Amino acid sequence: MRILAVGDIVSSDGREYIYNNLGKIRRKYNIDYCIANGENTALTNGITVDIARNLIDCGVDVITMGNHTFSNKESGIVLNDFERVIRPVNYPPETEGEGYFVEDLGNVRIGVINAMGRVNMEPLDCPFRETEKALAKIKDKADIIVIDFHCETSSEKLAFAHYFDGKASVIFGTHTHIQTADAQILSGGTGYISDLGMTGVRDSVLGVKKELIMEMYYTRKHVRFEKAEGEVWFSGCIFDVDEKTGKTTNVERLYFSDKEII
Ligand SMILES: [Fe+2]
Ligand SMILES: [Fe+2]
Repeated sequence: MRILAVGDIVSSDGREYIYNNLGKIRRKYNIDYCIANGENTALTNGITVDIARNLIDCGVDVITMGNHTFSNKESGIVLNDFERVIRPVNYPPETEGEGYFVEDLGNVRIGVINAMGRVNMEPLDCPFRETEKALAKIKDKADIIVIDFHCETSSEKLAFAHYFDGKASVIFGTHTHIQTADAQILSGGTGYISDLGMTGVRDSVLGVKKELIMEMYYTRKHVRFEKAEGEVWFSGCIFDVDEKTGKTTNVERLYFSDKEII
C-alpha cells in the first residue's frame, strides 16, 4: 500500500493548501492512506475541532501531534472526541487522547503511533520505552505500523529508527519544519526519513514572518509571532509498504508548490 506522510501543516495557509489540494495529491500518487502532522494547524498552534474535522473530511486518515499538542484550548476536546487524532504516547498517562490508532481497512490493518523526542524538548517519559509498550499493545492488531517521531535532533531520530527497525514499517520525523534528504530503507526494512518538512509558507522561518524571527535572534528580546504570507509548499514523503511482509519497498520525498499539482 502507498502511505503518504505530510509534514507539519502550519496555520491557515497550510490548512487551506491541504483542503484544496490533498484530494488531487492522493489521486495523482495513488495514495491509500494519509498521515499528517497537525500540531501547528491552529492560529495559536495545537488544533481545533473544526480543523480536525476539515482535515479528516479532505482525506487525512490520521492526524499526529507534537510539543504543541496543547497550545490550543480545544486540543484536549479534539483528542477525546476524534480517535484519528493522536498525541505523543510518552505524555503523562492522564493526558487526554491516545498515543496510537489502529484501523482495519479490510484487506490490511494499519496502526499509527506518535512519540516525541527529549533532546532540546520537554522532558516527557522515555519515547523508546513508551513506544515499545504501544507496539506490544497493537502488534497483533496491525499488519503495518507507522510511527511519527516528533523530535528536534536527527541523532535522536536516527537512533530511535534503528532501535525500531524491522518492528515498524515506516518511521518518519516531524517538528523541525525542514525536510531532510535522507529518505531511505533501513537494513531491517523500515522506511525512514529524519524529517518530512513543513507544509506552509516557504518564505518564512517555521511558517512565522521571517523578519520577526530575525529580530528575535538579533536583539534577544521577546517578539510576538505573526504568520508569514506567501506561497505555500507541500512537504512530505510516500512510503510503499508490502502488505504481506510489512516492509517498505520504496521511499519518495515530495516537496512542491501547488503549481505542480494538476
Ligand atoms: Fe511543528
Ligand atoms: Fe513541534
